[in-house]
Amino acid sequence: MKFPMKRAAVVGVLVVGVALSACMKQEPPKPLYDRLGGLGPITGVVDKFVANVAADDRINARFANANISRLKIRLVQQICEATGGPCKYQGQPMDVAHQGMNITQDEFNATGEALAKALDEMGVPAQEKGELLAAIGGMQDQIVGK
Ligand code: HEM
Repeated sequence: MKFPMKRAAVVGVLVVGVALSACMKQEPPKPLYDRLGGLGPITGVVDKFVANVAADDRINARFANANISRLKIRLVQQICEATGGPCKYQGQPMDVAHQGMNITQDEFNATGEALAKALDEMGVPAQEKGELLAAIGGMQDQIVGK
């Protein structure tokens, strides 16, 4: 009678252990693309970003001759791809696209502010906002002073 009780106890401990380890298994974090909500919200961010750039006298003259509808499409593709989404960026590499523009650090910062404001306007949470701004900030060396 003693032995089966012991065995039952051991089995019980094992079952609880397996159940616990299954509960504690961490799901891999979702790609930023999914956490942003996909193409709809990303397109919203780009629309607001371009509107903020157009309203900012520190940088809007730079875009006087720009093809805005193409630029928006490229920005959506770029953000989608950079955040792990299913798109393929079809524009020029950043250093080529901004070649000869002599973009200053202040102009780059102002553009970053326009993006940060767009993310706030779209209600993007702090974590996702920080991750996207960091990804764009990483392009600085390919854009400033080219
Ligand atoms: C903040 C980081 C930036 C990103 C992610 C970015 C992204 C892009 C992209 C994707 C394009 C389109 C390239 C193509 O069509 O092949 C582009 C073009 C352009 N960018 Fe930027 N850019 C940034 C910063 C800036 C800054 C700071 C300025 C100037 C203040 C600027 C001015 C322009 C202009 C004038 C064009 C050409 C648009 C046209 O001719 O249609 N960009 N940029």
